[in-house]
Amino acid sequence: MIAIGCDHGGLTLKNTVLDHLRERGEEVKDFGVTTPDAVDYPDIAKPVAEAVASGECRCGILICGTGIGMSMAANKVRGVRAAVCAEHFSARFTRLHNDANVLCLGARVIGPGLALELVDLFLDTPFEGGRHAARVAKIAAIEAAQTPPADR
Ligand code: RB5
Repeated sequence: MIAIGCDHGGLTLKNTVLDHLRERGEEVKDFGVTTPDAVDYPDIAKPVAEAVASGECRCGILICGTGIGMSMAANKVRGVRAAVCAEHFSARFTRLHNDANVLCLGARVIGPGLALELVDLFLDTPFEGGRHAARVAKIAAIEAAQTPPADR
């Protein structure tokens, strides 16, 4: 299952990506939005990221104007490694080396043709493991070392 979500800036591209995923035969859980009304991207990034972190979905795709706000919000959820990609090399290597589990796209940055190629690369490229697994484990260690703020 693939989790997908967007804000108003990413709606048109999300619909294109959804069609593409279904053509690929993927099972998709759509967290919205489905209308062009303005929304705050963290409100969509959170449930998509949580669906990935919980294991309900094997990965996620988040789309906003730049992809950046979505990635910042998604990366606040423990266990999520979200990457903004706007070219092929990053989409491939964030899977090979970072084991990224959420792809963030900027609908105002790239066109639909490139976006679909990045989606395919992201979904079809395996994590290389080995020395990269130790580095990804260090990302998790940073998360684990964060203590919640004291009650005020
Ligand atoms: C919405 O106008 C825009 O700020 C949002 O889509 C995104 O680009 C934020 O990172």
